[in-house]
Amino acid sequence: MDQYIIKGGNPLVGEVVIGGAKNAALGILAGAVMADDPVLIENLPDVDDVNVLLDAIAGIGAIVDRVDRHTVRINGGTIKSVYVDYEYIKKIRGSYYLLGSLLGKYKEAQVALPGGCNIGSRPIDQHKKGFEALGAKVTIEQGGIINATAKALKGNHIYLDVVSVGATINIMLAAALAEGTTIIENSAKEPHIVDVANFLNSMGANIKGAGTDVIRVKGVEKFHGSTYSIIPDQIEAGTFMVAAAATRGDVLIKNVIPKHLDAISAKLVEIGCDIEEYDDSVRVVANKRLSHTNVKTLPYPGFPTDMQPQMSTLLALSNGTSVVTESIFENRFKYVAELARMGADIKVEGNMAVINGVEGFMGAAISAPDLRAGAALVIAGLVAEGFTILDQIAYIERGYEAFEEKLTALGASMKKIDVNDEREIKKFKLQVS
Ligand code: EPZ
Repeated sequence: MDQYIIKGGNPLVGEVVIGGAKNAALGILAGAVMADDPVLIENLPDVDDVNVLLDAIAGIGAIVDRVDRHTVRINGGTIKSVYVDYEYIKKIRGSYYLLGSLLGKYKEAQVALPGGCNIGSRPIDQHKKGFEALGAKVTIEQGGIINATAKALKGNHIYLDVVSVGATINIMLAAALAEGTTIIENSAKEPHIVDVANFLNSMGANIKGAGTDVIRVKGVEKFHGSTYSIIPDQIEAGTFMVAAAATRGDVLIKNVIPKHLDAISAKLVEIGCDIEEYDDSVRVVANKRLSHTNVKTLPYPGFPTDMQPQMSTLLALSNGTSVVTESIFENRFKYVAELARMGADIKVEGNMAVINGVEGFMGAAISAPDLRAGAALVIAGLVAEGFTILDQIAYIERGYEAFEEKLTALGASMKKIDVNDEREIKKFKLQVS
C-alpha cells in the first residue's frame, strides 16, 4: 500500500479539470451490458472502482475494449454467465448494479452480497424489495451469493422506504426491460441518477422523472447500441472547492455543472468564501480565516454525505463552533480521531460532530479510513504545519483520478511514496525545505 507525504502551508492556486462522475459511471457501465450492440462510454473516470467493475463485466464474457484512458466500448452480446464473482464485489459495492442489469436482461443474476463498509452497515433490503415487486425471486445462497430469478419481470408501483441511490438505480435497471410500467416513488434525485436514466434512454429505454422523487419506467423489448458521455463528478469538484478554501487559495474548477454544486457553494459562501460561477466552471477564493456554520447531510439537493468529511475538516480550521449532522450513514466520523492527532477539537456524539475551530493543524502520521475521509485528510495535510504521512491511500484512488498530480499542479507540496520508505521521505523533505 502506498502513502502520501505532504508538506503543508501552500495555498492552492490555478486551474483543475474535473473528471467523469464515478457514481454515475458504475450504474452506466452496468447498464451498458443490457444491449447486444456496442456501447461507447466517454468521459469515464480512470479510478479503481470503475476499473474493477470493467473487470467484472469482462469476467462474465462481455467485450470490454478500452479505447483510451477515459473511453470504453462495451458489447454485452457475448455474455456467457450471469454469475458475478465475490472477488469483484469485495473490492467495490458498485458491482451490485449488475444484479439489476443482468436480471433485467436475462431474468436471472447471481452476484455476491456486498459487505458493509467503513461508513455503515449499508443493507440492500430496498434493492431486494424492488426486484421482488417486479416478480423476481431473490434469495441469499450459500456463501453470500444473491440469486435473483424471474420467469418474467412485470412493472409495478414501488415505494422506497429509504431514499437510496443504489436501490433507485438498481430497480431502474431491472425495470427498463420489464413488461409494463414501473413507478419508483421516494426515489433518490442525485445527478448520477439522472445520468443513468439519460444513458438508458439513449439505448432505447423509456424513463421519465429521474431527478424527481417519482420515476416512471416504461419497459421496452430490447436496447440498441449508444454513445454516451458521463457527467462531471460533483464530489470531486466539491473536494477541490473545499481544498481551495482550506488552503486560502484561488482555484478555477473546470468541467463542472455549477447547479450540482449549489449546496456546497452555498455553505462555502456562508463561511466567507468568494465563489464565482461560470457556464461550466466555478472559482473559489478564500483569503481570510473562515467562520463557523452548521451542516446536515441530506439526499440531493441537500448537502451531500460524500462531502461531509471534507467540510468538517474545513470547519475544524474555521473560527467558532460548528455542528455537523450525518443523517445518511451511521458511522461516517471515523476520520475525526485522525484529525484529532493533528490538533483538531471535535467531539462526536452519535451522528453529530461538535467542531470547535482551531487556528491550525500540526502534521502527523495518519491513516485514511475510507474514500472521502481520505480526501479530507489530504486537505488537512495541505494545511498542517510540517509534514503529514497519510496511509491507506488506496481508498482515495478508488474515487479520485490523479489526485496528487492535480493537487501538485495547483501548488501542493506532496508525493506518493512506498510505505515508510525512509529514503523517499528524506529526499522529499530535502527537496521541499
Ligand atoms: C451511493 O451509495 C454512493 N455510492 C455513496 O458514495 C453515497 O454516499 C451514497 O450513495 C449516498 O449518496 C455509489 O454510488 C457507488 P444509499 P449507496 O443506498 O447507493 C440506506 C462514495 O464515497 N439503505 O443512497 O450504497 C443506507 O444504509 C460513496 O462515492 C438501506 O437502508 O447509498 C444509507 O443509510 C460512499 N437499504 C441510506 O440508505 C437499502 O437497500 C443511503 O444509502 C439501501 C440503502
